[in-house]
Amino acid sequence: MECNIIYILTILLTFLERDIVEASSWSEWWQYTGVSGFEFWGVINPEWILCQRGKRQSPINVDPSLLLYDPSLKHIRVSKRSASAELENVGQFVRLVLEPGTDKLINITKGPLSYRYTVHEVDFHFGTENDLGSEHMIAGISFPFEIQIVAYNSEIYGNITQARYSPNGIAIIAIFAQITKDAKDKNEQLEIISQFLPDVQFREQKSKIRQVSIHKLMPDTNHYVTYDGSFTYPGCEETVTWIIMNRPLHITVQQVCIFFTYPNTLISVT
Ligand SMILES: *[C@@H]1O[C@H](CO)[C@@H](O)[C@H](O)[C@H]1NC(C)=O
Ligand SMILES: *[C@@H]1O[C@H](CO)[C@@H](O)[C@H](O)[C@H]1NC(C)=O
Repeated sequence: MECNIIYILTILLTFLERDIVEASSWSEWWQYTGVSGFEFWGVINPEWILCQRGKRQSPINVDPSLLLYDPSLKHIRVSKRSASAELENVGQFVRLVLEPGTDKLINITKGPLSYRYTVHEVDFHFGTENDLGSEHMIAGISFPFEIQIVAYNSEIYGNITQARYSPNGIAIIAIFAQITKDAKDKNEQLEIISQFLPDVQFREQKSKIRQVSIHKLMPDTNHYVTYDGSFTYPGCEETVTWIIMNRPLHITVQQVCIFFTYPNTLISVT
């Protein structure tokens, strides 16, 4: 890819940064691979026992031959308003947190959900190669990106922390993204967000985005797969209703370069 040179520079910078950052808590210390990788999450911290022994753990590989069609499921609804938000590099992935006060504005309802869920954040997962970014897989195949819209049950719980540990607490809409060469297919909202990525090149860096539309991140489809699962990082709480949209968004190669070049390389910073 054309972004190779910048990519190498970024890795060098990352190693320099690595020496100054000190892991100060368990939650900052976990990683996806290596000695603190997910096979060990339940072993190294007893509070994360679900990561090791849980029976409804996410992500999963969706096997299309095992899906059951449920005609009673409704279309999912996402509020159309925009909100301001803060993009943050949390080390393992990039997170877009809606600003307090505005976060009440964007709700998710219907679909498989019996309650009203309020969007708290959007997480962006991506890999180092074109096909290795997503957490969920479809028929054993992963996608370059997975965008996760994380919402909490605001009819019952006061905040996401409380909801995270409680029944029916969380709903997450997962959206895959693929690379396209055709600029007219690209998702404009994703493009806007990716323009802020250079500002959060290093862990804990933040950048404000004034107008974000969660609704515009939704692909053009009413179809989805749903299952009861968990958080995909420690403590792996099994309180999540997952909704995986059945059509990906498209991003241009240029956008992918920005994602791959900047935050992704920070996974090793601890
Ligand atoms: C979103 O949900 C919250 C709490 O459940 C509610 O107070 C708020 O009015 C809802 N917002 C919209 C736009 O429906
Ligand atoms: C979330 O709600 C719980 C229960 O009401 C409360 O104890 C806690 O302080 C709240 N956390 C935040 C960050 O507001």
